[in-house]
Amino acid sequence: MKLCEGRVAIVTGAGRGLGRAHALMLARHGAKVVVNDLGSRADGVGNDATPAQEVVNLIRAEGGEAVVDTSDVSDWAAAKGMVDLALSEFGRLDILVNNAGILRDRMLANMSEEEWDLVVKVHMKGTFAPIHHAANYWRDQTKAGQVVDARVINTTSHSALFANVGQANYAAAKAGIATLSILAARELQRYGVTVNAIAPRAETRMTQGLRELTDEQRDRRDPDWIAALVTWLASPESKHVSGRVFEAWGYGYSVIESWQHGPRTDATKNPETLGPAISEIVKSARKNAGIDRDTYMEP
Ligand SMILES: NC(=O)c1ccc[n+]([C@@H]2O[C@H](COP(=O)([O-])OP(=O)(O)OC[C@H]3O[C@@H](n4cnc5c(N)ncnc54)[C@H](O)[C@@H]3O)[C@@H](O)[C@H]2O)c1
Repeated sequence: MKLCEGRVAIVTGAGRGLGRAHALMLARHGAKVVVNDLGSRADGVGNDATPAQEVVNLIRAEGGEAVVDTSDVSDWAAAKGMVDLALSEFGRLDILVNNAGILRDRMLANMSEEEWDLVVKVHMKGTFAPIHHAANYWRDQTKAGQVVDARVINTTSHSALFANVGQANYAAAKAGIATLSILAARELQRYGVTVNAIAPRAETRMTQGLRELTDEQRDRRDPDWIAALVTWLASPESKHVSGRVFEAWGYGYSVIESWQHGPRTDATKNPETLGPAISEIVKSARKNAGIDRDTYMEP
């Protein structure tokens, strides 16, 4: 069964790694794909149209339809150009997968302003800008009386949600994307758009060599396990799912439950009396979840 027949998708950072897998699987499920990729190094330097072109060639060789876009997703005008390209080339837009990303890891005391700014820009603005321009299109469609059944799928990370040390820039940006996804789900519901996010774990150039992997562990980090969830979320079948963040890899998918209101105490204008009460609510609150919390440990 083809889950996305006749739909049009933009996948950012689709020249390599996870985005490549998303684009190929969406195309195999009938979607026409704008394959966006700046073709930068893992740290964001440089540009090269080859990776995106190779994915487009592969999709076309399999009988699908695809077009290259080499925009920097964090460039406001270029992000609009990417949405416009989907419309001029394929006549519509139904799916936006925000996946492009880079890393500049450093302990925060050593992190430079440039390392902070670039990582935050590529991830946060590079997610917001395409959503903004796509949302304008879907709003106009709705106002013109068209039925919109669209999807946005963003990419967050465990590093963000569970505060991995050494990644202050990346974690701040990716945590922002998780909350942006929930907020966008609420705002865009009125235009027929669902918004979800994934926190993937895969073997790509971004994670290669971080640790020794067995063959089994490597297989469970194949991007296709994640592309399957993205393809389903992109399909009309997922209409009832919005504002959710999913952990995804070859060991399974789970819903990340968001911030919760915890234990409380009465307010006071006298800080001298606060000590015992704050100590008590901190003691009775659940610990922050860790990156390797029990339910997510590798079997
Ligand atoms: N691999 C993992 O385990 C993992 C875990 C958590 C989150 N992620 C996230 O998944 C996404 C994909 O990562 P990956 O592992 O496939 O990495 P990757 O480096 O293999 O692929 C990222 C792609 O994004 C492109 N890109 C970078 N900056 C861009 C820009 N400004 N505009 C357009 N394209 C740009 C790169 O050229 C590259 O092809 C990223 O957002 C990453 O942070 C990955």
